[in-house]
Amino acid sequence: MTQENGQPKPKPHKIIVAIDGYSSCGKSTLAKALAKTLHYAYLDTGAMYRAVTLFMLEKGIDYNDPAAVAEALEHIEIHFERIQGQNHTFLNGVDVEREIREMRVSEHVSPVSTISAVRRAMVAQQKAMGKRRGIVADGRDIATVVFPDAELKIFLTADTDVRTSRRHLELAAKGIDAEWDEIRRNLRERDHIDSTRADSPLRQAEDAIVIDNTLLSEAEQLEKALSLAQAQIGR
Ligand code: DC
Repeated sequence: MTQENGQPKPKPHKIIVAIDGYSSCGKSTLAKALAKTLHYAYLDTGAMYRAVTLFMLEKGIDYNDPAAVAEALEHIEIHFERIQGQNHTFLNGVDVEREIREMRVSEHVSPVSTISAVRRAMVAQQKAMGKRRGIVADGRDIATVVFPDAELKIFLTADTDVRTSRRHLELAAKGIDAEWDEIRRNLRERDHIDSTRADSPLRQAEDAIVIDNTLLSEAEQLEKALSLAQAQIGR
């Protein structure tokens, strides 16, 4: 393809889309759909903190002990694989995609995520994964710490009861049994810990665009985000 001046048309450049927000407000649904539409990689940073937490729980490691945490981090390898079109999280070579979503992990993941040594290790890996751009990442510190130079920053929000119901359905679909009230309490607790921790708390980046998806369908939120992304890609 050429432009009017006969020069080859520049290829659209690849961008980074950073999506932050509270627990269960649809970040991963949006990030996955956006990555699929743009043919980008999807980076689920919450899954990485969940995998670290699972390791601590399974090995009976006291995560309040800094030396034990440092030692544990030496023995943790996390990567992602696509299996039948789905993102799967691997911890030391084992597919833990299902286990990391269980309530026992949700109960401990926020305190584990407050530990600076854990954050340093995860953020370094995430930055490396984003080197070639063409990535949609979701989490709590993506636009502020991991990819502060992301071309598109989205801060997603939704009503707490709506988030609880969505999470309840999502867990039920995976065959994971949990009470609605227990899920709601866990969401509120994680929101509190995630946004008040000393190291890289969840907060809206100054240049982030807020999308409240309480009343939006998945298709509607995707459409909004896609047009924002395309505006950046076409620049
Ligand atoms: O997105 P999620 O609910 O799977 O994330 C699980 C926890 O991991 C969340 O409560 C806080 C932590 N987390 C974080 O501290 N930083 C991120 N970038 C992503 C998740």
